[in-house]
Amino acid sequence: MTDTKKSVHGAWSSRFAFILAATGSAVGLGNIWKFPYITGENGGGAFVIVYLVCVLLIGIPIMIAETMLGRRSQRNPVETMALLTDEAGADKNWHYLGWMGVIAGMFILSYYSVIAGWASAYIVKAFAGSFFDADGTAIKGIFDDFVASPVQLIFWHSLFMLATMLIVVRGVHNGLEKAVQFLMPSLFVLMILLVGYAMTTGSYNQGLHFLFMPDFSKLTSDSVLTAMGHAFFTLSLGMGAIMVYGSYLPKGISIAKTAFLIAGADTAVALLAGIAIFPIVFANNLHPASGPGLIFQTLPIAFGAMAGGWLMGILFFVMLVIAALTSSISLIEPVVAWLVESKDLSREKACIWSGLVTWLLGLGTVFSFNVWSNVKFFDRNIFQLLDYLTANLMLPIGGFCIAVFAGWIMKRQHSEQELDMPNAASYQVWKILISYVAPLAVFFVFLHVIGVL
Ligand code: PFF
Repeated sequence: MTDTKKSVHGAWSSRFAFILAATGSAVGLGNIWKFPYITGENGGGAFVIVYLVCVLLIGIPIMIAETMLGRRSQRNPVETMALLTDEAGADKNWHYLGWMGVIAGMFILSYYSVIAGWASAYIVKAFAGSFFDADGTAIKGIFDDFVASPVQLIFWHSLFMLATMLIVVRGVHNGLEKAVQFLMPSLFVLMILLVGYAMTTGSYNQGLHFLFMPDFSKLTSDSVLTAMGHAFFTLSLGMGAIMVYGSYLPKGISIAKTAFLIAGADTAVALLAGIAIFPIVFANNLHPASGPGLIFQTLPIAFGAMAGGWLMGILFFVMLVIAALTSSISLIEPVVAWLVESKDLSREKACIWSGLVTWLLGLGTVFSFNVWSNVKFFDRNIFQLLDYLTANLMLPIGGFCIAVFAGWIMKRQHSEQELDMPNAASYQVWKILISYVAPLAVFFVFLHVIGVL
């Protein structure tokens, strides 16, 4: 497909660059902050198994599909859907899919930025030595005091949004590739060191047991939905983030192999985070279901107790913030790319507007941890509502539609040509997963949640 319109698109310098950027998008707060706390809230092992199965059977095929759609059109998600719908001669309503992604991205970023703000504030706390020799109660006190202050949360949320927009304004090529290249290996090493500390807590086996021994009686239909939603969230699927990155991917590069690599790295980081955190939870008599504060109430105990913990604490939160940044830019890139390519806005203006709206929305999350903690809709505060709406509903619905589009609407000859799999059998496996397994799985989980099944 050729570019006839003005395109702000560049291309990644190589397949490796795409892998780095997409891994940067995938690995973030979802792995280190969210995976442990939702695993804790949903009873451990059985939840983890459902999540892993979802990554394998739903996540990876949809990642392949999303990358493929983006690369075929080389445009932002809104235009990608418009273009490919026309190419396939399909119903115009498919256009809305691109829209939903743009909105989901801004919704997610609004609370993502608040949590990334917490991580940023913890760099300063680590630096100041606040965790030194502190026990579980003291560390929890630090956290509770912190989130009780709207002013502090707004300050850090604003700073993080500003950093995100400053990177996005420069375009995805400048700086992003290099940042991720150094970040991923360092993050891995730190996680392994933390696992090393977890082994010394005396509750290592209990932690592993919680994480990997399934007790299916703890699984409710809502936790299955959360596990499935998280597979989408953690792999950045269902809203066009990977589609946008795919649109920068040069032709002639194997999409399937890269999807496996990205999903593998993402899963490894999440599991390492779980293995590091739960032993600390049990060793300090903390509660696995402590909610969004879990890593902020556990890991500082490790940093305060271990040799070299001061430096490790600083490094850990710095890396967490960078990991969050490489994800946040992919959350806002779909809307920015759309404003620039379709609405003829300059990149600066597009960033200012989308950034402002997202920042404002983020205030709802800020207040749900303090002054508005009692404001509930459907039994959820604003943060929980946004999280549920995006991760549990919008991303799976988006993913479902992407699967149906790639499996049923797009012409076989086009997907075959675009994927260029090494053999017919691998294409066939993907085709079955994307046409039947992934959409039906999402569909049945939804039916189950609304009580039809
Ligand atoms: N995958 C990111 C994480 O796990 O932190 C979050 C995310 C990024 C979700 C981009 C969705 C997205 F499009």
